[in-house]
Amino acid sequence: MESSNLQKIVIVDFGSQFTQLVARKIRELGSFSEIINFKNIFKLRNDTSVKGIILSGGPLSITTNKGISLDSFLIKKKIPILGICYGHQILAKKFGGKIKVSKHREFGKAILKVKSNCILTKNFFKSKKSVVWMSHQDIVQKLPKGFKTVASSLNSKFAVIANEKFKYYGVQFHPEVSHTENGKILIKNFIFNICKIKKNWNSKNQKKLFISNIKDTVKNDKVICALSGGVDSSVVALLLKKAIGNNLTCIFVNTGLLRKNEANDIKKIFRKKIKLNLVYVDASKIFLKKLLNIDNPEKKRKIIGSLFIKIFEKYAKKVKNAKYLAQGTLYPDMIESKSVTGSPSSKIKSHHNVGGLPKNMKFKLLEPLKYLFKDEVRKLGSELSLDKNILLRHPFPGPGLAIRIPGKISEEKIKILQEADYIFMNELKKEKLYNKIWQAYAALLPVKTVGVMGDSRTYEYICLIRAVTSVDGMTADFFSFNKNFLTNISNKIVNSVRGINRVVLDISSKPPSTIELE
Ligand code: XMP
Repeated sequence: MESSNLQKIVIVDFGSQFTQLVARKIRELGSFSEIINFKNIFKLRNDTSVKGIILSGGPLSITTNKGISLDSFLIKKKIPILGICYGHQILAKKFGGKIKVSKHREFGKAILKVKSNCILTKNFFKSKKSVVWMSHQDIVQKLPKGFKTVASSLNSKFAVIANEKFKYYGVQFHPEVSHTENGKILIKNFIFNICKIKKNWNSKNQKKLFISNIKDTVKNDKVICALSGGVDSSVVALLLKKAIGNNLTCIFVNTGLLRKNEANDIKKIFRKKIKLNLVYVDASKIFLKKLLNIDNPEKKRKIIGSLFIKIFEKYAKKVKNAKYLAQGTLYPDMIESKSVTGSPSSKIKSHHNVGGLPKNMKFKLLEPLKYLFKDEVRKLGSELSLDKNILLRHPFPGPGLAIRIPGKISEEKIKILQEADYIFMNELKKEKLYNKIWQAYAALLPVKTVGVMGDSRTYEYICLIRAVTSVDGMTADFFSFNKNFLTNISNKIVNSVRGINRVVLDISSKPPSTIELE
């Protein structure tokens, strides 16, 4: 994203699992934040939009990893720095503090006691104490030069330290996690009272920024957008329509793996209501053919991903002089497939919309949402007056129903699943539960079991229903339905969908499970 003129707080990532949380907290407070891998610190050299730097936690130990030290140019920049956990230690070391492996590790809740007043901890303590969340083995043993002790915990004498003259602060605990009671207050103090960053990260400004970025980048060239009908690609399409008007052509590929009525609804909304140039491609037969007899989840994903691109490319070539390809890739998509910051992160699943593009593709990529979290995209969509049905729609994976039918898929199975899912979604909406749930769906399990209907024996598939609450899909908890709802949904699905005689409820959270079955 071309955000160079937007004030920001940069989070230097040393590999903490909570780095994203820090970024989210800052955005929730209304300012822009960006994560950068510690190896790329040099990129900040000439960046004048950085108003503050946060050094993240991380799995490394300063006592063994002598190689990593705080780049001196960060100090020369003379902007406020807040070190968190590992970042706290790295900052302390830079100014002559001593770090050692503590005999008493602190994991979990700890009580912090005030030692001196500090702008960073204004309103953070109640009765001179605060509950914080720690996760460390090393501690700062000797106070660095020019710093004072602001607070201590039982096992960490220098748990909060400050050099108020230069605006350098270090906290041994994690203010970004919800278990730290007043963590948000501390981050707020840092970004607004110390860094003095503007509070201008909101959907109105994002709309303006993204539209002007698109205009600047694309100029009079033509853009193609792969529209899926989900919130993300729809928001991208609306942004582009506003930025470049009819120079945008959207291509919608019906994989045959969509939900009931989905393809027709999308045609209606985007062609008739929004008046987009929409190329509709019905490729359901070819997808089905290629997936026949494939039961390995990763193979399925790869086939769907590459076939999608092939078909998409075929139709994209027909759009004369198209130079850019726009996609609705989001921040979490980038991180789960390939870390956006360049830090290695283990691959969980190959996501359909990331990384699958052929290297020889002649288009340049346009991904205006790639630094946004899902909730931010929804807010932006609302700002762009996106149809409510699409705006509030649960996320739907690129490989569609194929990953909700474990094992081999068939036309029959897809039809059965579409009917069951349709009933489930309608009931959720009728009972006003749909918007309380982050994502819900029906899946078709590839086993047949015996049932009895009337006086006859049945031997049919099992329908699994799954509903989860989540903020961004990275972690999720299963949603608790009441018994009446479950009774009703089970009856409705079994009574109306031929091919299903049993309904089961998925009660797993993520982790250890994932949201989708494959
Ligand atoms: P998992 O199953 O990994 O899913 O817990 C997390 C979120 O990502 C969605 N998902 C995908 N979205 N292309 C997408 O655009 C994909 O290939 C894909 N796979 C999973 C999933 O629906 C959930 O919201």
